[in-house]
Amino acid sequence: MTAAYKICLLPGDGIGPEIIAEGVKVLDALGAKYNVTFEYTEALLGGAAIDVTGTALPQETLDVANASDAVLLAAVGGPKWDTTDPEKPRPEQGLLGIRKALGLYTNLRPVRIFNALAGASTLKPEVIDGVDLVIVRELTGGLYFGRRERFYDEEGAGVNGACGQRAYDTLEYREYEIERIARQAFDAARKRRSKVTSVDKANVLETSRMWREIIHRVHDADYRDVELEDLLVDNTAMQLINRPADFDVVVTENMFGDILSDEAAQITGSLGMLASASLGDGTALYEPSHGSAPDIAGQGIANPLAQILSVEMMLRYSFGMNDAADDINRAVTAVLDEGWRTGDIKGPDTAADHVVGTAQMGDLVVARL
Ligand code: IPM
Ligand code: MG
Repeated sequence: MTAAYKICLLPGDGIGPEIIAEGVKVLDALGAKYNVTFEYTEALLGGAAIDVTGTALPQETLDVANASDAVLLAAVGGPKWDTTDPEKPRPEQGLLGIRKALGLYTNLRPVRIFNALAGASTLKPEVIDGVDLVIVRELTGGLYFGRRERFYDEEGAGVNGACGQRAYDTLEYREYEIERIARQAFDAARKRRSKVTSVDKANVLETSRMWREIIHRVHDADYRDVELEDLLVDNTAMQLINRPADFDVVVTENMFGDILSDEAAQITGSLGMLASASLGDGTALYEPSHGSAPDIAGQGIANPLAQILSVEMMLRYSFGMNDAADDINRAVTAVLDEGWRTGDIKGPDTAADHVVGTAQMGDLVVARL
């Protein structure tokens, strides 16, 4: 019997539709190779959804995601929907909403160096040599999902009169939220180099002090074989570019993880290469770590490799198709070793005839599967 998997496709905005098409190409090729059927249902998310339905996360999209075995997302957002008006919908609400609705509390963001691209980093080769880390970002709690408000009162008064605006966001965690992300981090470490760096701001924040206690409690009870270190978030920002190869698993709060994962991605010099997986209670979701790049949308020049590498993660984590996942990794490495580049990863030495567009890059990978 042929296995069949249902995949919900969320192309989103900007370069999203172009890059997701290359992800699908790769899935189709591997489906044929391994005798597996992938069935796709496309749904709206982000700005594309706002334009059609007035909301960034329509119920229908959630229904499709819930009924699928995995979600493949490209990217959301763009200047068209940029606003600071709290009453207006924003594309990002779609992304945050779907993470929360599917209970995807673990976000894995692996950062590794493709040797062929080592020159693309702004860091010295000897500093990035051997970098292979994963950020385990808590994804459904913390500052992103705490109570928030914007209102007018006397204390907020600015130069304009007796009343002025005030706003607050809150960083809140419950014990179980920290326990479960701790377990995810320690489990991930056991499959790697068995080292976890827990990042917090325990010298200032109460949530961080609780975070640190709980991480250590879980560690001492069940993961004594894993090395554990605590690092303050500001120091982590520094150490990540100072000694990136020392990190294995980095576990942290939602907002800290958002910031540190962009920094960690830049170690490789090419944000266009980094995939992510969001796992938890419901259907898992896979997406590139980069954004929707509205400035180059529609030109066929975007780098589809992070999207393709997020398909690799999907095959591994959702379908247990490790051989197919390894195929993708090998194919992408080969394409890069042969010198093929999209504009964003082209170094000064790249020959002009080796610079390719989005669809060509996808074809090159497929041909090497
Ligand atoms: C990310 C992005 C999102 C986030 C935005 C688009 C809401 O930056 O996935 O890192 O902040 O989580
Ligand atoms: Mg981010």
